[in-house]
Amino acid sequence: MTARLKAAVLISGSGTNLQAIIDHVRIHDVPCDVQVAVSNDPAAYGLVRAARAGIATAVVDHRDFTDRAAFDRALVDTIEAHHAQALFLAGFMRILTDEFVERFRGRMLNVHPSLLPDLKGLNTHRRAIEAGHAHHGASVHYVTPALDSGPVILRGRLDVGEDPTPESLQQRVHRLEHRIYPLAVEWLSRGRLRLEGDTVYLDDRALPKTGEEIYDREL
Ligand code: GAR
Repeated sequence: MTARLKAAVLISGSGTNLQAIIDHVRIHDVPCDVQVAVSNDPAAYGLVRAARAGIATAVVDHRDFTDRAAFDRALVDTIEAHHAQALFLAGFMRILTDEFVERFRGRMLNVHPSLLPDLKGLNTHRRAIEAGHAHHGASVHYVTPALDSGPVILRGRLDVGEDPTPESLQQRVHRLEHRIYPLAVEWLSRGRLRLEGDTVYLDDRALPKTGEEIYDREL
């Protein structure tokens, strides 16, 4: 029997990716236990989702701290109190200190709403439209200190199509995220994924810099 991966999911908002992970882990019997959902915002709806799923919740409100380092130390305390080995950032909208990121290197994943390395940062759907991109999507990557620049594990691609709006694209990208993030969580939990230097290995096969890809022409 393989050991189960104990994880914490960090959120700031609605938590639909958290929900997708919870559902996928249960349905597919993934050896992963989400020990706690941690939010920097007490009003995050994702906390309700976690509680409904019987998962512990914690709030580390960034407004209670005078600097990032103190906030990150409180996050570490919370994560360690729940014995989490892996961290899944799921719409967690705080920038983490390099020290925090290094501590969890190779054990921390994030989902970002673009085809990385394109469109790092915010407002990716509007920027994809303004740039006239034919394709858009989402990426799951290991977190390293440079923002949205960590090694990519898996991307979900869609056609931007005719007359997109930032809202319509966001909805379609969300649906892709809900497929790719749980899949990457499953790979990590089943011991199929590892990071060596800047290279991601899936089943001992080095992935290209843009990771694996799911291209959904139906979305
Ligand atoms: C997701 O679309 C995720 O890609 C994005 O926040 C949303 C959270 O949705 N994350 C970032 O922009 C991080 N740079 P959710 O709370 O419903 O999972």
